[in-house]
Amino acid sequence: MIREQLGQAFEILGLAHMAAVYDHHAEEASRDSISYLEFLDKLLWAEIEFKRERAAKTNLKLAKLPYVKGLDTFDFEFQPSANQRKINELKTLSFVGRSENVMFLGPPGVGKTHLAVGLAVEGIRNGFTAYFLSAHELILMIKENIESGRIHRKMKALSKPDILIIDEVGYATMEPDVAHYFFQIVSNRYEKGSIILTSNKSYGSWGDVFGDNIVATAILDRLLHHSTTINIKGDSYRIKEKKKAGFYDVSKFESNSTD
Ligand SMILES: Nc1ncnc2c1ncn2[C@@H]1O[C@H](COP(=O)(O)OP(=O)(O)O)[C@@H](O)[C@H]1O
Ligand SMILES: [Mg+2]
Repeated sequence: MIREQLGQAFEILGLAHMAAVYDHHAEEASRDSISYLEFLDKLLWAEIEFKRERAAKTNLKLAKLPYVKGLDTFDFEFQPSANQRKINELKTLSFVGRSENVMFLGPPGVGKTHLAVGLAVEGIRNGFTAYFLSAHELILMIKENIESGRIHRKMKALSKPDILIIDEVGYATMEPDVAHYFFQIVSNRYEKGSIILTSNKSYGSWGDVFGDNIVATAILDRLLHHSTTINIKGDSYRIKEKKKAGFYDVSKFESNSTD
């Protein structure tokens, strides 16, 4: 009778985890003479923990990360300019609370995406939402949504996540209408939500990226007002790994390189 009633109560209140574990906790409590208050406390926090983990799992899926890698797997000794001290400060996620931005700049393979993903994973674990897309995907998305007349709805959606990651800005030059909507995104999120951005281009060349110096300046002005820039100068980790495996004759690569 009491179990039936309890079962109903848990269902009405949406306490699925408590329903599953209360029996075990109750037995433990009477065996170890745990107080009523302690018992209640344990049960409630087990439910909270369960709900938080479930939400984080859902948010991890919704974030559309290209891969899941934590900051703990990043080798800072290999890449000292990745500034471990700054990354550790960012890891506290106070930048998300303050809606500040993080910019990772540097050549290919130095770990920009890994660090951006690592911060997003850390954020999601701590209850924040994130959304990842490459600049290329963003450009296509903007164009499609202009055509289908859904661009305003899309702009709204992109202002929602606590952390928006825009990866690989700088590989493609943006047309004026795309650059305009990119500015809109940055502007909508200004002091309201964090952006983590990665780019292979230094700020001086962003005029070319956005096809217009004035637009680029307006975008940078908002992005950089409250932000941390991490400028990574070093060797590609991909090449290091291949070198280690003996796949890569780097001297050949360097002599063939045109830049
Ligand atoms: N310092 C590092 N420690 C561990 N893995 C790294 C490091 N730098 C890069 N990687 C790995 O090398 C690959 C390329 O890094 P990535 O973050 O994609 O570089 P970028 O975005 O700068 O081009 C990824 O698999 C990443 O996890
Ligand atoms: Mg990358």
